[in-house]
Amino acid sequence: MDPEQAITQRARRRGSTTPAAGAHPARTAEREAPAGRPVVEFRGVSKHYPGGDVGLDQATFAVGREEFVFLVGATGSGKSTVMRLLIKEVEPTEGSIRVAGHELGEIKHRKVPFYRRNIGVVFQDFKLLPNRTVYDNVAYALQVTGGTRKEIRAKVPDILRLTGLSTKLHNYPDQLSGGEQQRVSIARAFVNHPPLLLADEPTGNLDPETSIDIMRLLYRINRTGTTVLVATHDQAMVDKMRRRVLELSSGRIVRDEATGLYTRDESTREFAQRLRAPGTRPPGI
Ligand SMILES: Nc1ncnc2c1ncn2[C@@H]1O[C@H](COP(=O)(O)OP(=O)(O)O)[C@@H](O)[C@H]1O
Ligand SMILES: [Mg+2]
Repeated sequence: MDPEQAITQRARRRGSTTPAAGAHPARTAEREAPAGRPVVEFRGVSKHYPGGDVGLDQATFAVGREEFVFLVGATGSGKSTVMRLLIKEVEPTEGSIRVAGHELGEIKHRKVPFYRRNIGVVFQDFKLLPNRTVYDNVAYALQVTGGTRKEIRAKVPDILRLTGLSTKLHNYPDQLSGGEQQRVSIARAFVNHPPLLLADEPTGNLDPETSIDIMRLLYRINRTGTTVLVATHDQAMVDKMRRRVLELSSGRIVRDEATGLYTRDESTREFAQRLRAPGTRPPGI
């Protein structure tokens, strides 16, 4: 079984409420009428940092189950603020944020670590533990969320296989390329199969070819039923991926566009081929 089938089957086994890839209505339709509750819902959300910087200004948007959404905008437009609000690293100044129907403002401080288990986070600078091997970096993520040794032994090799890292188990981060390090950080973020994955400029430090591999991996994760939100500067990549784009400018949502020319059934291989093809700007943009 190829890794992609394996990951999809695993997602189904774990009782994911999401139908199998391929059995979906067009995603654009899903977006207009998200099935059930949106996974992420911002209503009139502002974030004013101490000192007066505006992180977010009256932002309202929703992200449905299984969507893959790009968050774009210039440096300082508020992309990371959206991510930080979602993991409750910062609190909004006003407005309401719901994740899977839960109002974040109502989550008690001591419950925040439990809440965060539902969200995988990937950063531009990988944030790996430098003195631990690839295996241990991923195992550690399970340990801190209360994974048993048996669970760790079962899950870590699995996720490393799926992310293409099986031959690198014993390497330390400084013995890996940038792309491999980002794979480790994605493996770590996804080892618990969270329903929501956030990636903040995941390809910001990578060359274009490696960036495509990383996007392909995020797409593969999305196809297992995980909602994926990616903040990026990489306009060329965004154009080629043909996913929904939310654009921020000075903390405001200035564009919400379903570049709806993609098909739900595209395999990750076809997807990567399309990304590598030159000059495929989707018509209508
Ligand atoms: N911790 C902070 N303290 C003060 N201002 C901040 C802080 N974090 C972000 N900002 C400000 O909020 C705005 C949005 O920042 P950010 O969300 O990091 O944007 P982006 O990720 O799009 O580059 C910027 O003006 C930035 O300077
Ligand atoms: Mg940022």
